Amino acid sequence: MTLRPAVTTDAADLSRLHAASFEDGWSKDDFVTWLARAEAMAIVGGECGTVAFGLALAAGADAELLTIAIDPAHRHAGWGRRILRALDAEALNRGLERWILEVARNNLPAIGLYKSSGFVEIGIRKAYYRVRGDRVDALVMSRRVGPEGGQDVA
Ligand SMILES: CC(C)(COP(=O)(O)OP(=O)(O)OC[C@H]1O[C@@H](n2cnc3c(N)ncnc32)[C@H](O)[C@@H]1OP(=O)(O)O)[C@@H](O)C(=O)NCCC(=O)NCCS
Repeated sequence: MTLRPAVTTDAADLSRLHAASFEDGWSKDDFVTWLARAEAMAIVGGECGTVAFGLALAAGADAELLTIAIDPAHRHAGWGRRILRALDAEALNRGLERWILEVARNNLPAIGLYKSSGFVEIGIRKAYYRVRGDRVDALVMSRRVGPEGGQDVA
């Protein structure tokens, strides 16, 4: 299994993977713009082709997870956890201190991944997402940057 930092030529793959996971898929150009930012931390994973990616931003001392998506045919095979760990190593390398993310309250696979990676809930944003016409709350979750077992520092 191979993980590496994403570069702008990965933008089409990231857009494809994002569209397979989310209603409001981000375009290739959106990813080109994100990946060009110095604050961006992005990891892709795959063997024969890209099947997983995660994108985060450094904001002050925070590492903000913007999105993570695994090809539906390759889920529950450890890619999500590997991508998260690789992003965490990059955040640690940049001297960041705290992870922060939002996740739809009904996204049980993602909540399972985050909780089992040491994230804890620190807040709720009411009606934050629109999913198939319905409003869904977002959980705000956090953990300390660094090897798992980190505590919430909010
Ligand atoms: C959420 C997502 C990234 C998880 O990636 P994944 O590669 O399938 O996850 P992993 O195989 O690394 O699993 C890691 C942990 O996540 C949790 N998890 C994964 N799939 C799960 C599921 N269907 N139900 C409950 N928990 C799940 C488990 O705790 C799992 O640990 P375990 O295998 O020891 O039980 C993936 O389902 C995905 O791409 N979803 C669509 C996009 C999305 O919702 N992104 C998050 C937006 S906030």
